[in-house]
Amino acid sequence: MSLDLVIRGGTIATASDVFRADVGIRDGRIVQIGEGLGQASQVIDATGRLVLPGGIDSHVHIAQPSGDGIRMADDFESGTRSALFGGNTTVLPFCLQGKGQSLRDALRGYHALATGNCYTDVSFHLIVSDPTPSVLGQELPALVMDGYTSFKVFMTYEGLRLNDAEILATMDTARRTGALVMVHCENEDAIRYLIGRHEAQGDVGPRAHATTRPVAAEREATHRAVSLAEIVDVPVVIVHVSNGAALGEIRAARGRGRKVVAETCPQYLMLTAADLDGMDWEGAKFVCSPPPRNAAEQEACWTGLEQGDFDLFSSDHCPFRYDDPAGKLNPKGRTSFAHVPNGIPGVETRLPILFSEGVSKGRIGLSRFVALTATNHARIYGLEKKGSIAVGMDADIAIWDAGAKRTIAHADLHDGADYSPYEGIEVTGWPETVIVGGRVMVRGGELVGAKGTGRYVPRALSSLARQAAV
Ligand code: URP
Ligand code: ZN
Ligand code: ZN
Repeated sequence: MSLDLVIRGGTIATASDVFRADVGIRDGRIVQIGEGLGQASQVIDATGRLVLPGGIDSHVHIAQPSGDGIRMADDFESGTRSALFGGNTTVLPFCLQGKGQSLRDALRGYHALATGNCYTDVSFHLIVSDPTPSVLGQELPALVMDGYTSFKVFMTYEGLRLNDAEILATMDTARRTGALVMVHCENEDAIRYLIGRHEAQGDVGPRAHATTRPVAAEREATHRAVSLAEIVDVPVVIVHVSNGAALGEIRAARGRGRKVVAETCPQYLMLTAADLDGMDWEGAKFVCSPPPRNAAEQEACWTGLEQGDFDLFSSDHCPFRYDDPAGKLNPKGRTSFAHVPNGIPGVETRLPILFSEGVSKGRIGLSRFVALTATNHARIYGLEKKGSIAVGMDADIAIWDAGAKRTIAHADLHDGADYSPYEGIEVTGWPETVIVGGRVMVRGGELVGAKGTGRYVPRALSSLARQAAV
């Protein structure tokens, strides 16, 4: 059998096994795994390297409208380029429905921005901000059939949050269609109350962002989200869990037999609220929601990763430039933390951080790393040909130098922001070659592939949710 590409001599890791074998690729797919594979047009020597499924980052924000005068730092070109260099081969950005906007219309805009500009494959989650009867009754069901099989709802952010009745109605559409609902769990009313109190006292610096979004606001909302999902009888994804108490609500719901997927992110392992204390508004660089917590909550998140409570490790890449009137330091943002855009960059550093802090330091095994960063994302979100190294799968592969030592510096990264929240952190392990659909995109740390190689990928129903659909 003639092959387009063979990866020879590496150690393959999947979510279940670690073994030595060569990988044969033809027409963008993995067609052989074994020893002594036949002739190929191209050979990559992966001796001494790890051959892993390309990362799937199922929680990123790219080119998302972010309010008057505020601009996200990444478009699809820079966002997927950064993802690629970080060892990712697929990203799932969100398509935000504006108030009064049809979801189809919103999707048209995102597709127009993405088409021809991506270095990785992409697929879209929807954000439902206006769940009118026609959106829930007609548009969403049709879009689910078209491969947009997951949507996010917010319990916080003015203009985005849904009330409980709206969340129930949206979850019911998910139940009827087999789509998967993701929930951002923070109690908006509690947060508004606390913001008012802090602003009245003149406590307006970035540190107050963390104080006004306490663990209790996230824990309460998590309890409510899993309860609403129980009432409607749907599985639910709780995104960006930041602390042990919220994770406790998820464990309790699972104990009642509920299907609850839990996601955490690098910021909840590596940052704390103290990072928001920086001099001269520097703390704005770390403003994201939920906010980073403290060392005890970091430990609780690690325990959740080690013990299997978390299914997904995503970046929640949501980049704004810092020193920019359209970013963190916008004119209103300088007057109060409440106007600093929420979100931090991290799509390129997600995998090296978990590899280094988790695998290299012996907290999690290689197979768990693969599950948390690729395989589970594919299974949970219906990417049937992705997330593993197996015959028939898309040839989406990252070849890692597990011993490479790097100090994270934004100057070396490829996103459109002007800082990294992880600047100066030393990591061991870095992806050096990245292959998307059988095409070598990054080789030895250099970009060798073309923009536009990444394709849009429609998704199947989640294996979790489709069983619930009637
Ligand atoms: O602060 C964050 N996480 N911004 C991104 C939007 C979201 O809630 O995921
Ligand atoms: Zn969110
Ligand atoms: Zn997010």
